[in-house]
Amino acid sequence: MNYRHSFHAGNFADVHKHLTLLAVLDYLLQKPKPILFLDTHAGRGEYDLHSTDATRGNEWQEGIGSIFNGRFTSPLIVRYIDVIRKAQQGSGTLHTYPGSPLIATHVLRDIDRRVFVEMQAEECLALRKVLRQPQHHMINTTVNQGDGYQSLNAYLPPKERRGMVLMDAPFEAADEFKQLEQGLLRAAERWPDGVYCLWYPIKSGGLVNPFYAAMKRSGLRNLLLAELSVRPADTPLGLNGSGMLILNPPWQLDTRLRAAYQELLPILAPTTQGHVRVEWLVGE
Ligand SMILES: C[S@@+](CC[C@H](N)C(=O)[O-])C[C@H]1O[C@@H](n2cnc3c(N)ncnc32)[C@H](O)[C@@H]1O
Repeated sequence: MNYRHSFHAGNFADVHKHLTLLAVLDYLLQKPKPILFLDTHAGRGEYDLHSTDATRGNEWQEGIGSIFNGRFTSPLIVRYIDVIRKAQQGSGTLHTYPGSPLIATHVLRDIDRRVFVEMQAEECLALRKVLRQPQHHMINTTVNQGDGYQSLNAYLPPKERRGMVLMDAPFEAADEFKQLEQGLLRAAERWPDGVYCLWYPIKSGGLVNPFYAAMKRSGLRNLLLAELSVRPADTPLGLNGSGMLILNPPWQLDTRLRAAYQELLPILAPTTQGHVRVEWLVGE
């Protein structure tokens, strides 16, 4: 396995993914009852934007770098930038990018439970180290080195009966869409009421179309597609768009996401032809 998220941290797809993640978490946290946050492909938790990896493609400059100092009207964007700003730990300039574990840790309460699963030993070690910093309160937190898809069996259904699962696979394996689909079906059978967010890449070659078709046929209901593309889907090479399939999305999430993505689009895709797609793949 070669995937290193440090090359991509803070790029447009991370902006899209983490803004969406925060919107879901904030909704779940409106109620006083505890939740479970299960992050099946957690990564290392924190990324230095001036590292050799990050500066190789400088992807973050066209993502978080392009919006960090902007002014926005969408509450979801304002909230997301605020969380990224707090991760700079007092420095007003952008130098570090928090991954999904730190973003979640930032908003979760001590009563909530966090489970982070990561396959690569090095990434897992780095995540443990970062979470041990006192500001992250390692309360109710488990970091497991292992297979995120297997963790769906181990941790679901959760005793809290409320919460969400983020499945953010690296898409190195040719059958990743299939694994994601099977993972979701197994998980939803064990815990039908959970909120599930599955990230997927939009690239040329149309691999995403069989995924939509399989999910439509799956029998699952209440499936929302939330996509932000910075180039037409058939542009050869590279990542054209970032997608999130959400099972059991919070009330009116679609409207709020659409407004946020539309406000971001001219900045994340200033010279290319991007688009926003937020629609129900299967309704309630
Ligand atoms: C896209 S990155 C995760 C980024 C992270 N979720 C975030 O938002 O900051 C995907 C991660 O999955 C890890 N990984 C790959 N295969 C895995 C598997 N089967 N189970 C768990 N983690 C895996 C990779 O090492 C990589 O760190």
